[in-house]
Amino acid sequence: MKILITGIGGTIGSVIADALSNQHEVTGIDIRPLERDGTVVADLTDIDAISPLFQGVDAVIHLAAERRHTPDIGWDLLLPTNVIATANVYDAAHAAGVRRFVFASSMHVVGNYENDEPWASIAAGRYEGLDPATVPLVTADMPVRPDGRYAATKALGESLGRYYADCEGMEVVCVRLGTIADSDAIGDDPRGYVAWFSHADLAGFFSACAEAPGIKYEIVYGASANTWKIYDTASGWKALGFTPSDNAEDHRSKS
Ligand SMILES: NC(=O)c1ccc[n+]([C@@H]2O[C@H](COP(=O)([O-])OP(=O)(O)OC[C@H]3O[C@@H](n4cnc5c(N)ncnc54)[C@H](O)[C@@H]3O)[C@@H](O)[C@H]2O)c1
Repeated sequence: MKILITGIGGTIGSVIADALSNQHEVTGIDIRPLERDGTVVADLTDIDAISPLFQGVDAVIHLAAERRHTPDIGWDLLLPTNVIATANVYDAAHAAGVRRFVFASSMHVVGNYENDEPWASIAAGRYEGLDPATVPLVTADMPVRPDGRYAATKALGESLGRYYADCEGMEVVCVRLGTIADSDAIGDDPRGYVAWFSHADLAGFFSACAEAPGIKYEIVYGASANTWKIYDTASGWKALGFTPSDNAEDHRSKS
């Protein structure tokens, strides 16, 4: 399979490109020069520059984005990469007849559920009186509740995917990602025990996103098999035929 990864030089791109290269022909686009073979330096806001790079591609994994999601992040930063570039990547993929499109969305698309109970307590690490086996989960079919402008741009990317799936027959997987760090660490924030997505699970998960048969349009949650979850990760694993191996709880300091 020929797989094109946008933003291949970033945190997630670096992890999954190595893993996918074992079984697939992987090419990439990034605005920053990289040493990786098969990577082209291009700005995704330039549709003419990028369109030829989609010829013969079977699956696109669209990672490139402005990933900062602080409340003060402005449209000057978000519009070019999270809106124009995302629209360009969908358009270029469609024009080239790309079959599978994997869009890096975010849990922030539904992040305001984390202000409601019991999820607010879980995200804050207050577990008293809660049983993780019976906590209700935020599912993929609940209404989006973006927690900021960044999240709204990700909702747009999911919406474009729905359009291309429904009207153009593209197979689209939108991954509402949790937290992935360069170091693979969970970090000090208790929410890490909800959202941590280990590098090992990340690589296998994105392989499944590119390869799984029978996909039309799926929204899946991207996190490891964490005990204190908020989001319905298991439905996505089932749709993709993926089995995670890590759980943040196994790495919690007992001291
Ligand atoms: N890392 C996380 O915890 C996390 C969580 C949720 C969602 N996501 C999403 O996953 C995706 C990848 O995240 P990441 O952590 O690897 O991000 P990152 O910032 O590490 O990497 C993004 C890459 O995209 C490239 N890029 C940016 N603008 C570009 C443009 N106009 N043209 C070409 N390349 C461009 C950057 O140079 C960079 O290499 C993003 O869409 C992000 O929003 C990440």
